[in-house]
Amino acid sequence: MKRILVTGGLGFIGSHTVVELQNEGFEVVIIDNLSNTTISVLDKITEITGTKPDFYQIDLKVKNDVKAFFDKNKVDGIIHFAASKAVGESMSKPLEYYENNLGTLVYLLQEMKNRDLDNFIFSSSCTVYGQADELPITENAPIKAAESVYGNTKQIGEEIIRDASTAFNLNTIALRYFNPIGAHPSIKIGELPIGVPANLIPFVTQTAAGIRKELSVFGNDYPTEDGTAVRDYIHVVDLAKAHIAALKRLINKNNKKAFEYFNVGTGKGTSVLEIIKAFEKVNNLKLNYKIVERREGDITAAYADTTIANKELKWKTEIGIEEALESAWKWQQSQSV
Ligand code: WQD
Repeated sequence: MKRILVTGGLGFIGSHTVVELQNEGFEVVIIDNLSNTTISVLDKITEITGTKPDFYQIDLKVKNDVKAFFDKNKVDGIIHFAASKAVGESMSKPLEYYENNLGTLVYLLQEMKNRDLDNFIFSSSCTVYGQADELPITENAPIKAAESVYGNTKQIGEEIIRDASTAFNLNTIALRYFNPIGAHPSIKIGELPIGVPANLIPFVTQTAAGIRKELSVFGNDYPTEDGTAVRDYIHVVDLAKAHIAALKRLINKNNKKAFEYFNVGTGKGTSVLEIIKAFEKVNNLKLNYKIVERREGDITAAYADTTIANKELKWKTEIGIEEALESAWKWQQSQSV
């Protein structure tokens, strides 16, 4: 049985990926510093799959702890989620973001090199494209100057991995996520934003739950059909399954280059107003919202060309936007009980 390290494995995307790894028969060991999640997620994963993953509470910024982990643990692959991910926060705390998102990546790659470990999957983001010139966005779209420190850590992270792959013959894949949303059908795991949510869907569900007074729609003067910005919202279980597909590609040595990257989205663009309407319809409620000014740094539209990911990963999304929004609302309701 292959043993896979999942860093950030108690986080939103990490926990859903751990569930899918266990469903596929992988043994899982999780490293998480619990800075942006709670230990109860470990029990929830165990409830879903019946198997408790090994867990180490380690901060990957502590190089000696990372070394000590690998002294005790041999793994057949690493899926690296652990990172800070708040775009706005990254602008006021740049050094924390570079240390946490890049310093830790270097430590992991050093351990892989020193111990002949292989098969590394990196959590990247469509943010690396900025506002793409053409839609849908293909993997050949140019990487533009990052609009945030967070986005820059993803761009630099990919370059670090590319260079390490070439220098040490490591096999690696970066998955460029679009917008992850929704919750596991068991409603035992989902998004756990701490504080005021920056992302749209948790703000929508918290408004519907009465935790927030109303949703602010950041701008309706974009050059889109209804004037609100367009994104590619992918269900987190579909996203988790893309990681399994990428891991199998590396383990089975089907990758064509040492470092590969794929756009992971649905291929469909949805505007903020369309999200609101779909959320109201599928959950049979009225959402309180108002139109306000655009948010600094937001782009007009981003949605994936999924041709390469579908073909090379033999993977495609299966869950539609309404089912995703229904699961997000059910998850929110489960939080308030
Ligand atoms: C989506 C749309 C907002 C909140 C970022 C990162 C990406 C990934 C996901 C981390 C935009 C609008 C939002 C609100 C709104 N990173 N919005 N009112 O900015 O596309 O992507 O988060 O997980 O790498 O770049 O996601 O959910 O913040 O915004 O109108 O209260 O919703 O303007 O059009 P974004 P988002």
